[in-house]
Amino acid sequence: MLKIELGSKSYDILLEEDALKKLGAWVAEKWSARKIALISDSNVFPIYGAAVLADLKKHGFEVVHYIIPAGEKSKSLETANQLYDFLTENDFSRSDALIGLGGGVIGDLTGFVASTYMRGLHFIQVPTSLLAQVDSSIGGKTGVNSQKAKNIIGTFAQPDGVLIDPTTLKTLPQNRLAEGMAEVIKCALIQDKNLWQQLRSLSGLNEVLPNSVSIIEKALLVKKKLVEADEFDESERLLLNFGHTIGHGLEASQHYENITHGEAVAIGMVQMTKAAEEKGFSQAGLAEEISQMVKKYQLPASFTPWQSKEIYQAILHDKKVRGKNIQIVIVPEIGKGEIHKILLSDFQSYL
Ligand code: NAD
Ligand code: GLY
Repeated sequence: MLKIELGSKSYDILLEEDALKKLGAWVAEKWSARKIALISDSNVFPIYGAAVLADLKKHGFEVVHYIIPAGEKSKSLETANQLYDFLTENDFSRSDALIGLGGGVIGDLTGFVASTYMRGLHFIQVPTSLLAQVDSSIGGKTGVNSQKAKNIIGTFAQPDGVLIDPTTLKTLPQNRLAEGMAEVIKCALIQDKNLWQQLRSLSGLNEVLPNSVSIIEKALLVKKKLVEADEFDESERLLLNFGHTIGHGLEASQHYENITHGEAVAIGMVQMTKAAEEKGFSQAGLAEEISQMVKKYQLPASFTPWQSKEIYQAILHDKKVRGKNIQIVIVPEIGKGEIHKILLSDFQSYL
C-alpha cells in the first residue's frame, strides 16, 4: 500500500491485481454508511459497473450511478451541471460522497464536481486507464475544459483514496495503453533511471500488462514525491510537465484532432531534448534514445508538417507562462529532470 503524505489530506493508494473486487470492503474501512454516487462513462460502466454497484451495496452503502458519454467532450461545465442536478435530485448532502470509475476524464470531472458541490464532498478515485493509474488519479488536480481551453477551470482537491486495479487494463484499447506509456516514459526520464532500464528491457507494449504492477508503482513513486514536495504546482511538481509544453502546443495547433495527448507528449519529449542537445543542456544522443523508446511503445517521435509558428502561438496560452517568462523542463541525462526559467520569446528556438 502506497500513501500520499499531505498532512491531514493524506490518503492511501491500493495498487494490486484484482483490487476492484475489494472496493466495497476498502471503501467501508474509510467511510461510514452513506450515500455514494458512482460516476462512470459509457465504455467503462458496461464492463465494470454492475459488479462495483453490487459490491458497494453489499457493504452497506446506498448507491446511485450516473453514466456520461465517453470522451473528452464530456469534461465540460455542462456535464458538471448535469451532475450537480443529479446530486440535488438525489438529496446528496455534505456527508455523502462520490466515486469516479474510469479514465482521466471521469477522474477530473468527479473530483471537480465533488470539490465544488456544496463546497466539497469526499471522493475516491478508481482509475481504469493507464494514464489515470499513473498520473491523473493522484495529486488532486481536478477540472473541466472551457469552450476555448483545456483544463482551464478546476480545483486542487485531494481524494480520500485511490484504488488501482491493473487488470482493468486488459479491456483498455492498445492506443490508450500507449498513451499511458508516454507518461510512464516521462516519469523514468525525469526521476527514475531504474524504471528506464526496466522499460528498455521489455520488448514493447505487449509486455506492459504482465509487468503492470511494478511499472505503475515506479511511476506513482515519482509522482508521489513531487506532489508531496509541491502540492500546488509551484516548483518541483512542474517536472511532471516534461514534454507537455510542446505537446500541448502541438495538440492545440491541431485543434485536438489528428493527434492524441500521449502522442503529443512523446513528440514533445523528443523535440525538447533535440533542442536541449543543440544548446548543450542535454547529453549528446539522448533525443535519439528517447525517440527509440517512444517508438518501441507504439508512440510517434515526430509530427509532419511541423508548424513551429502555430505551436508557439498556442504555447502563449500555456498555464506555465508567467508574464514574459516560461518554465520549461529539460532532461540533461536519464533520471534527472531540471526546471529552467526562460524568456517566452526564447522558447521559439526550442521549436
Ligand atoms: P479518458 O478518460 O477519455 O479514457 C480514455 C478512453 O478509454 C475512454 O474512451 C474511456 O472510456 C476508455 N477506458 C478507460 N478505461 C478503460 C478500460 N479499463 N477498459 C476500456 N475502456 C476504458 O482519457 P484518459 O486518457 O484516461 O485521461 C485523459 C484525461 O486526463 C484528459 O482530460 C487530461 O486532461 C486528464 N489528465 C489529468 C491529469 C491530472 O493531474 N488531473 C493528469 C493527466 C491527464
Ligand atoms: N499531470 C501533472 C500534474 O499532476 O502535476
